Amino acid sequence: MTTYTLRSASPAKTRVDTVVVGVVTTGKGVELAPGAEDVAAAYGRDLRPLLAHLGVRGKAGETVRVPTHKAIGAGMLLLVGLGDQVTPVSVRRAAGAAARAVTNAASVALALPADSPALVRAAVEGWILGGYTFTAFKRDTGSDPTGPGTVGVLSPVARQADAVRAFEEAQVVTAAVVGTRDWVNTPPGELTPERFADAVTALHREATKGRGGPPLTLTVLDETELAELGCGGILGVGAGSSSPPRLVELSYRPEGAVAHLALVGKGITFDSGGLTIKPATGMTTMKCDMAGAAAVLQATFAIARLGLPVQVSTFAPMAENMPSGSAIRPGDVLTMYGGRTVEVQNTDAEGRLVLADALVRATEVQPDVVVDVATLTGHMVIALGDRVGGVMGTPEVVDAVLAAGEAAAESHWPMPIPEDMTERVRGSKIADLLQHDWVRWGGGLYAAAFLREFTAEVPWAHLDIAGPAFSSGGAVGEVTPGGTGFAVATLVEYARSLT
Ligand code: BES
Ligand code: ZN
Ligand code: MN
Repeated sequence: MTTYTLRSASPAKTRVDTVVVGVVTTGKGVELAPGAEDVAAAYGRDLRPLLAHLGVRGKAGETVRVPTHKAIGAGMLLLVGLGDQVTPVSVRRAAGAAARAVTNAASVALALPADSPALVRAAVEGWILGGYTFTAFKRDTGSDPTGPGTVGVLSPVARQADAVRAFEEAQVVTAAVVGTRDWVNTPPGELTPERFADAVTALHREATKGRGGPPLTLTVLDETELAELGCGGILGVGAGSSSPPRLVELSYRPEGAVAHLALVGKGITFDSGGLTIKPATGMTTMKCDMAGAAAVLQATFAIARLGLPVQVSTFAPMAENMPSGSAIRPGDVLTMYGGRTVEVQNTDAEGRLVLADALVRATEVQPDVVVDVATLTGHMVIALGDRVGGVMGTPEVVDAVLAAGEAAAESHWPMPIPEDMTERVRGSKIADLLQHDWVRWGGGLYAAAFLREFTAEVPWAHLDIAGPAFSSGGAVGEVTPGGTGFAVATLVEYARSLT
């Protein structure tokens, strides 16, 4: 366990094992970033030749360790590159790189630029997220699995209320992002729908234990209850698996709520494609297909911990998409919750089927707005890559989500829902709606058009996070390999924007 403090101490005098300072590139070469003035002063005229000898370039993500030989209070100085700009994005990224470069330190001071609440937040979030590792299944966790015992964030505004709030909120939000990453990284055989729901139940118990906990209520619907309700989408997708599906409904009802937000998240614990089976390589990362459900659930717990005055009703349909003798077939017709029928053409387009039931459930609680989050289509990955999410839906809600993403330092991009998509979605010859029509172009937009049919004209946004939910490469800044926790911070920021 690491303890975090926010302090206004001098980075040159503070007695810690390692002090982290930023390096920026300017027109004149490299220099230490704001926050490190005292360290620069302590080195005086030796600083320039030292940086030159070490070959410090100040590139984003660059880290260089320098033994201080008592030049300053800390035994080790870690220089971390910010690139040519000091922004929340560059500080978050540098703090993330720093968290991985610091080793063998029981105490650390972060002296990155932090003279505003946004930068304090960036330093804390970057450090915690960049240092994330998933070791639950490693026997040999390496030498330094737990990280330092104390991390002090040094900031000239450490005593200002808004900086303290940013510092505390950053810890709540990152805990939710870490929780999302853990769920996504858990092997799919360990995180069946039932066990995913159990994990949510355990978290709910933890979040509400004792007196004065937040007003959170949880319901887990099992396959029998889903059948009684007529949730044909969730049951249909889950029909091929020997692990039965679940629908988790979590609600947060604070007193004096000023708005009511419904969240819906895709919770496919493993997506083999079903009978429309995926090629082997397309299946390897498909444990990530519950990232939307993980994000909306964790965001709801974070919103409750922060005490935001927004009522939140969260729906997470969970199923495993498997091929078997009991699986649904292309050509089958499913009756969704609420009675609409859907002709299935591709069992690998399963996300929209489980989301349809959950969206109808969500509109029934009469929210002001619905936001769904889903690793829905490979088309969105082709269009936007693996760092940017696509946002579709009611223009005002899309704009507000984009603004929240900006504040949360997550990249989202608006995508359209062309009108002809709706005609095609309504074009089944034997059912009310057609799940899929095998036209490859714009498949992510067709999926959104399909989902919109279930929103009952409630203002709505759909976040397709198929790209950014999971990182297959190495660590970069605050993004670590595996589940990224993408969308959690945006959702918390969006809820805050409703207040
Ligand atoms: N879970 C996948 C989408 C996905 C792809 C997530 C890549 C993360 C990374 C989804 O269920 C799926 O299989 N979508 C199909 C949709 C198609 C059949 C219309 C796809 O992407 O091919
Ligand atoms: Zn899927
Ligand atoms: Mn699929």
